[in-house]
Amino acid sequence: MCFYDCWIPVVWVLFLYSNPLFRLSLSLSLSLSLSLYSSGDTKILDTINKGFAEFRLDIGEVKKDVGEVKKDVSQIHEVKKDVSQIQDALHRGENPSVSISRTDQGLHIKSTLQSGDNYIQFQPQIGKIPFLNEAQSELAKQSLIEGKHENFLVAYFTPFFINLVKKVDPNMVFVNSEYYSWLQGLSGDITNAAKPDGFIMDKSLVNFRGPYKDASVCPEQIFGELASWGVRCSINSIWDAKKKVSLAGYADLCNYLQRCGDGGRCYDGSWMNHKGVVYDAEKCYLVKSIRHTITHTTVFNWTDAGSYDLLKEFISHSDPWTKCLYELCDMLGVKVVVPVTTNAVTTAQLGGSFLGSGACGRVFKVFYPIDESITYAMKLVISTDEEEGRIGEVENEYYQLNNAKGEGVIPVVSDSLKLSSVNLNSKTLLFGGYLMSVVGCPVENNKTNVKKMLESLNRLHKRGIYHGDARIQNVVQWEDTIYWVDFRTSSLSASSVFISNDVKQFLESAHVEFDKSVIATYKDNLNMQELLNNIKL
Ligand SMILES: Nc1ncnc2c1ncn2[C@@H]1O[C@H](COP(=O)(O)OP(=O)(O)OP(=O)(O)O)[C@@H](O)[C@H]1O
Ligand SMILES: [Mg+2]
Repeated sequence: MCFYDCWIPVVWVLFLYSNPLFRLSLSLSLSLSLSLYSSGDTKILDTINKGFAEFRLDIGEVKKDVGEVKKDVSQIHEVKKDVSQIQDALHRGENPSVSISRTDQGLHIKSTLQSGDNYIQFQPQIGKIPFLNEAQSELAKQSLIEGKHENFLVAYFTPFFINLVKKVDPNMVFVNSEYYSWLQGLSGDITNAAKPDGFIMDKSLVNFRGPYKDASVCPEQIFGELASWGVRCSINSIWDAKKKVSLAGYADLCNYLQRCGDGGRCYDGSWMNHKGVVYDAEKCYLVKSIRHTITHTTVFNWTDAGSYDLLKEFISHSDPWTKCLYELCDMLGVKVVVPVTTNAVTTAQLGGSFLGSGACGRVFKVFYPIDESITYAMKLVISTDEEEGRIGEVENEYYQLNNAKGEGVIPVVSDSLKLSSVNLNSKTLLFGGYLMSVVGCPVENNKTNVKKMLESLNRLHKRGIYHGDARIQNVVQWEDTIYWVDFRTSSLSASSVFISNDVKQFLESAHVEFDKSVIATYKDNLNMQELLNNIKL
């Protein structure tokens, strides 16, 4: 390509850029594009690129000094760089450093959805029931005038929400969480965790807590937080009250949903979907998202005919994990543990059923109804039928745990392995699980425990057992005893390569400094002492 060809588009862009009208249209086009992008719509890149591509004209019309052209080109590159930074930040669901206010964000999302007919004003359906009748709605407005604070709105609406949730699914609960920071920031930032007013969740995935000070408590009210960030794909919906839902308030809820969709996938590898509700005394906004993208919003008045069914439908759900959890519980004849909640003011953790999760499974505390005082840990693994290998792994794990039973290995309940499938939304879901007879707790990472775990691992190796995923996260403790869990990639052929892998993986997971040559020579108990002498605990 000759010099002449190279500069045709550039010179034309600069000619246009020097024109104030063009600058205005460029900035309008960029802000339109940003609004598309704020909801994650990849059309923005096409829009911008198309915009730049359209600036080709006959070179004969433009004469500019090359030095000036170069300067302008670099300015355009700067603008493009800023734009791409904003795009990246918006894509991650963040407030970009180039200030875009919450109101702007709310407006961007709203106008983007409107242009795709995905921002809908609910049309009342004559003859159907409203969520609140006129008298209840008046009381809602009064609660705000008297209370002057959102907390009064939350307190007023909570009993209505509790009743609605019970009708949809008796295993689901509406949890008040406005004093607990559980909703992580982007990229797992826990220093910036938010406190939504509430959320709806299956009771097995709630960390129950007592009511906070000054909370107005109604019957059956539950306080708490999400049991673990790792199970956020199972959140039914996130709820937030505002004195008056403004664009900024709407953006806050969108931001909660975007944070939840960040950095995670569902069990089948798809992006996570989330739902949220933001409301004031008069109106309610139902918002849906996929990953970082806000996809739908429906607005209604609490007194609109048909709004009761609308909200009921919105929170009706089909979470694959929950569906399989209760199927497995039925097959094993067990129930998940739900702590007895108390009205006494205590923000202490009351706990819950959830014990932990990893890449493949979730583990819950359960009991047989004949004796609630004895608890068991139940592991559940789910899979699509295309990935049935995962279910094979849980089967392997159960047999491995039986074969390896003895010191340091979590004991399993005999004949407790169950494998089956369910249909959900015309898809087949495979699941499998089993019971462990010891419910442990995570092991604190300190010098004494690391030594204990290394010795325990060494004893497994001496018995010819290779763990396969020997990380500190796969150790639990009950009283003073250490147990290894998660034997899905374990084998009984503990060759020297495998066992030194176990040790290396364990030391890395516990952040212990060690000399790699010591690991290379580690084979069995003979140099265990040398290993302990050589690592920095
Ligand atoms: N018996 C138990 N008692 C208490 N907690 C347990 C028990 N078994 C497992 N857990 C907890 O559950 C978590 C997940 O269990 P496990 O490691 O078996 O699942 P996983 O999905 O296979 O994990 P990974 O991603 O490591 O393969 C563990 O890290 C541990 O915190
Ligand atoms: Mg694990």
